[in-house]
Formats: sequence, structure tokens, C-alpha cells
Amino acid sequence: MNRIAVISDIHGNVPALEAVLDDIHYRRIEKIICLGDLVGKGPQSHDAIAMVKKHCEITVKGNWDDFITKDPEFETLKWHQNQLTDEDRRYLTKLPFSAELTMSGRLIRLFHASPYSIYTRIQPWDSIERRMSMFEDTEMTGKSSKRPDVAGYGDVHQAFVYQYKEKMLFNTGSVGNPLDMTQASYAVLEGLEGEEAEGPFSIQLIRVPYDIERSIRIAREADMPDLKEYIQELTTAKYRGLS
Ligand SMILES: [Fe+2]
Repeated sequence: MNRIAVISDIHGNVPALEAVLDDIHYRRIEKIICLGDLVGKGPQSHDAIAMVKKHCEITVKGNWDDFITKDPEFETLKWHQNQLTDEDRRYLTKLPFSAELTMSGRLIRLFHASPYSIYTRIQPWDSIERRMSMFEDTEMTGKSSKRPDVAGYGDVHQAFVYQYKEKMLFNTGSVGNPLDMTQASYAVLEGLEGEEAEGPFSIQLIRVPYDIERSIRIAREADMPDLKEYIQELTTAKYRGLS
């Protein structure tokens, strides 16, 4: 059996990312895939990028990774953009839209928000039709030999696994800005990687407590804008700003 950790939505929160990477290594999982939103919201976008580059085999692009490289529309965004080097920006610009792999006979497609765009948000409580549209082929995903059996994403910062008919949809939740409970979140896929024949397969959701006070301290010391909203989100898991 192979295990693959899928992390997402780090949002510049290094203490949370460290806790998740420690947990992944403690479980002796060697392959990590990242579903985007490395930057913004939290104070350490540059360090988050460096850590993802070092530890993740595949990384796809999130909405923050996209708009942070463009002309900033407001002051807060400008501050976050200023945390990046030119090389960081180039790295973010080049990230792919989606990734695919096979495990135990299942085609698994991974993207940040939806197969339509990194800005199309699909919530766990949306209609079944809308959730099942996550398995569609689009211009962005391209076509594979078959439709995906498993689709995984981040973006909404809410972890879940949903099985409908023969399909499995999952959300990793967020490492650095969880909005369902105040612990970092990630998923583990287990099965035979690269195997076309059907076999056992599982998706596990893991929650990791981390030092929230340290994350707040780092943000305060960096003079990060919208600090009050940030503290509220980290300590209550209730949405106060852009995700
Ligand atoms: Fe996000």
C-alpha cells in the first residue's frame, strides 16, 4: 500500500504547516501533494512557499497564488505581495491548474477549487448536482482516458469526504486557516499508486493541533494588516475575510 498526504490552503501560517509536516513525517508518509493557496492571509508567505517547494512533489495553483501576483486591488493585498520575492512570484505563476494520479484502479483528479476555475467555489452544502459537477472534464482539466472516480480539492477550508454512487469527493480542509474547527487539516489517500486494477482504497481526514498563539505572535510582530480578523479566524474558525 502507498499513502499520499494531500495538504492545502496554508495561507502563510508556518506554525500550522510545521505541525502538519511533523505529523506526516511521524506517520512515515513520503509523498505530499499541495492543492494551492500557499500565500496570503497569514504573515509568512515566503517561508510557506519555501517549505512547500521542499516537501511537496506536486503543487497546483490556488486563487490567492494567482491574484497575489497581479496588480494589487487593495492595501492588504499589497502588503502580502511585498512579502514575496520575484522568484516566489515566478514560481506561483507557473503552478499548474490540476493534477491526476491512479491508485487501486481509481483515477484521482486534484485541483484547488473546481474543474472550472480556481475562483469557482463549491461548498460541502451545495446541491448534489453542483458537487457532482466536480467530476466533469473541462478545458482547464483536459480529458483523461475516463472520468475521475475521485476528486479532491481545497479552497473552502472545510474538510469532508462525500461518497455518491461510485464517486468519492473530498476536501482536505485548510492547514493554516481552517474554518470548520481550530486545528490544521489534511487528507491521506491510501491504495496502490499507479495500479490500474481495482483494489482497496481509503481517504482519511486528519486534524492536527498547532501553536495558534505563536501564529498570532508572528503576525503581530510583522505588523500584518487586518490582524484582528486574522486572530478571530484562527481562534474561532469563523470566516472574516477572503479565503
Ligand atoms: Fe484558501
